[in-house]
Amino acid sequence: MASRIAVGIAGTGSYVPERVVKNAFFERLVDTSDEWIVQRTGIEERRFAADDQATSDLALEASKRALEAAGVKPEELDLIVLGTLTPDYLLPSTACLVQDRLGATHAGAFDVNAACTGFLTALHTGEAFIAAGRARRVLVIGAEKLTSFVDFTDRSSCVIFGDAAGAAVLTPLDECGQGEILRTTLGADGKGYDFIHMPGGGSRKPPTQETLEKREHFIRMRGRDVFRFAVTYMGEMVREMTEGYSPDEIALVVPHQVNKRIIEAALERLDIPPEKVVVNIEKYGNSSAATVPLALDEAVRAGRIEKGKLVVLVAFGAGLTWGGTLIRW
Ligand code: UT7
Repeated sequence: MASRIAVGIAGTGSYVPERVVKNAFFERLVDTSDEWIVQRTGIEERRFAADDQATSDLALEASKRALEAAGVKPEELDLIVLGTLTPDYLLPSTACLVQDRLGATHAGAFDVNAACTGFLTALHTGEAFIAAGRARRVLVIGAEKLTSFVDFTDRSSCVIFGDAAGAAVLTPLDECGQGEILRTTLGADGKGYDFIHMPGGGSRKPPTQETLEKREHFIRMRGRDVFRFAVTYMGEMVREMTEGYSPDEIALVVPHQVNKRIIEAALERLDIPPEKVVVNIEKYGNSSAATVPLALDEAVRAGRIEKGKLVVLVAFGAGLTWGGTLIRW
């Protein structure tokens, strides 16, 4: 077997829509309060995309910024992999729309649907292509316009979601000299498919007047079940990714921004100090596949990651799915 090519992260980028929506917005829609939302989730505000913006528009902006940071031109890309649960269309893929608008004329493009684990799934796919010598430059994206699929009459779910996008450009490590991807893992358990799902609109229940009236084309969530699953798997992923390394080597943990209480509960058990954990849920809410690349990009641009130190990415979500990545920055 040919030897594996080491893969690095050449650059990151992110984008959030301009419209800031405070918790008070939901007090007018459902029986909730700013106090409840802050206490139970840590969210103070989130971003909503404009009516004329779709997931590909958010993805495009984040991608341009990642390419610029990496010093890679769109026509140099071999592959684009985009993680989303909120594609512009069921057909074709959102990655193809981004490919066209970037002018990535030599790139293949496809979407992956692993919900909140979407970015890590895209990242691991891109890493595998480069490691196997099947591609040299890969753009990986996590992007969501969740507000198109949120049921604004359901107080337990509508308050947590926001719109955003994040991206990263992967190249062989000998080309970019940073961000070596050391470990990756992905897992799934479809028995929990209905913890977070959209019952209508797919091939099992194509859209009809009835599915619309029953609001089955919106996200449904068993929040408490997700809570328990998330605390367990976030801890497991961090433990698996960091096994064999000393705690001093870990610069940052970048977790899926699911709920501040979930992040705190999981990391408390692992004895990771809060200053090593990236939390920005108070500003952006939960933007599913976009949370990890957005938080990573913010940390990179804020200079929070010392070269040579370790960064752990962890995510989990609908499917159920989960994943972890270990990077030496
Ligand atoms: O990224 C993957 C997708 N994300 C998730 O699935 C989120 C994971 N879950 C969570 O973040 C939390 O479970 C929630 C934020 C969704 C809910 O928080 P919780 O602390 O687990 O609340 P709960 O579901 O146990 O509900 C407690 C009470 C209930 O009232 P009763 O039955 O005790 O009278 C809910 O009806 O809080 C009520 N409640 C609300 N009250 C005010 C639920 N949502 C709201 C709300 N405002 N927005």
